[in-house]
Amino acid sequence: MAILLNNNGGENQAWAEALESHLPEMPIHIYPEIPDPSSIDYAVVWHHPHGDLNNYPNLKAILVLGAGMDHIDQETSLPDVPIVRLVDPTVGDEMSQYVLYWVMHFQRGYERYRAQQSEQHWQRHMTPFSRDYRVSVLGAGLIGRFVSERLAATGFCVHSWNRSQKEIDKVRSFSGEQGMHDMLAVTDVLVNCLPLNSATKRLLNKETLSMLPKGANLISLSRGAIIDDQALIDLIDSGHIANAALDTFSVEPLSNASPYWGQSNVFVTPHMSGSTYPQYASEVIANNIKRIEQGEQPFPVYKPRP
Ligand code: GLV
Repeated sequence: MAILLNNNGGENQAWAEALESHLPEMPIHIYPEIPDPSSIDYAVVWHHPHGDLNNYPNLKAILVLGAGMDHIDQETSLPDVPIVRLVDPTVGDEMSQYVLYWVMHFQRGYERYRAQQSEQHWQRHMTPFSRDYRVSVLGAGLIGRFVSERLAATGFCVHSWNRSQKEIDKVRSFSGEQGMHDMLAVTDVLVNCLPLNSATKRLLNKETLSMLPKGANLISLSRGAIIDDQALIDLIDSGHIANAALDTFSVEPLSNASPYWGQSNVFVTPHMSGSTYPQYASEVIANNIKRIEQGEQPFPVYKPRP
């Protein structure tokens, strides 16, 4: 009985040590050094080479080392075993703090004060009341729900949109295409927490982003390919969108040629809104492996979009 580990080639040693501390009985083999494929019971992977997971005849489950499942969606063939997502509360915490940071930045107009400072100019501006400041979160999955709940607990007026209707306490829910259009029209800050799939690719395009009120802001932290970059750049240049805080991009690292780098009201961060720390996340993964060993269901099992 053994684990195959591959964190996309990075930090494998730290992951192996962290997993070993919870599962001391289980040998861990770092891919591609797998002495006996038939000994592998669990694959703990992130961006693993496509097709390789079919090579382990006794595999019981695939445990993914991250929240996004787009790499799994791109597999053409996978063994018929449960695929378990990683729900690490530490990541949810960090990502909602990233969103709170930018929402407050935009709400208080900090860039304006920064500009005033450079001119030694003392002038107060009205800060919109939090309860009137409309933050609309696209996606009510694991991360979107976490973000919406945290924003609502902080006192913002929170809207949440999901493909199918999902209720969140103290949050106004929208669903379906018309629901998304209705929500965009009543938004001060739009937060992109959508998963990337064929239905969401370039969903934030000229048409949809233009539905935001003039002066709205965008925060994007799930996947960059959900945004039509040229449309966003044009809408920022025209002043329709006031600011964008972007943590993820269609191609990462962001190309040196990207106009985003040079736009003063675009805030580029290098996919750092939430980090998966081996010392915390390994416990979540180990608990799922223990659950399977005891004949229980792991949580949450990923169900690919039909
Ligand atoms: C990171 O982007 C993740 O999906 O966990």
